Amino acid sequence: MSQLHLVDHPLITHKLSIMRNKKTGSKDFRELLNEIAMLMGYEITRDLPLEDVTIETPITKMKAKMLSGRKLALVPILRAGLGMVDGILNLVPVAKVGHIGLYRDPETHKPVEYYCKFPTDIEERMVILLDPMLATGGSAVDALTLIKRRGCKNIKFMCLVAAPEGVKAVMEAHPDVDIYTAALDERLNEHDYIVPGLGDAGDRIFGTL
Ligand code: PRP
Ligand code: URA
Repeated sequence: MSQLHLVDHPLITHKLSIMRNKKTGSKDFRELLNEIAMLMGYEITRDLPLEDVTIETPITKMKAKMLSGRKLALVPILRAGLGMVDGILNLVPVAKVGHIGLYRDPETHKPVEYYCKFPTDIEERMVILLDPMLATGGSAVDALTLIKRRGCKNIKFMCLVAAPEGVKAVMEAHPDVDIYTAALDERLNEHDYIVPGLGDAGDRIFGTL
């Protein structure tokens, strides 16, 4: 069964509160999103495997531990997930990046796929799916299905704000995928927006309000 990890370090919670404020503009919103992604990236990469490597310090030879093999692929869901990529690349600059384009149909609120491109060796990597908002869960569920179809086995999902409805949907459809979120909010409203949430993440990042 998958687990929900609430990554509510005070620095993260503080930055998220600034993002939630409707007076915060796109520039600050983008910067804060990347900062939080980096801080959460520290937690989500906690179990990356290490291997012994022999090195020489100025004093002596030693067996040091370094990250092993092909490691990480990041997959942002377009558009809003793009806002989390650079933060994690600051931590793991050699990670490869795939993209999944999905938008929620304004009438049905169901995700519609418009783009999908993955690194060729993605199935050998731990995959972190990125999207700041987990609302109904439709987008995350479909994106995870696309990633699994490519043969990926080790997948985690990182978001910023989750609604209980979305958490339930992802856990039911993908019980092998752990969810990392900075906040678990109250509910969805009649338009399937998260309450209290932070509004439309894509619009706030790209200034398309
Ligand atoms: C938002 C958000 C998620 C999705 C979450 O994207 O970034 O991808 O909605 O909603 P769900 O859990 O109900 O599927 P949106 O469709 O607004 O597209 P955008 O990022 O291009 O603005
Ligand atoms: N997508 C967003 O960007 N925000 C929400 O609250 C729900 C879906």
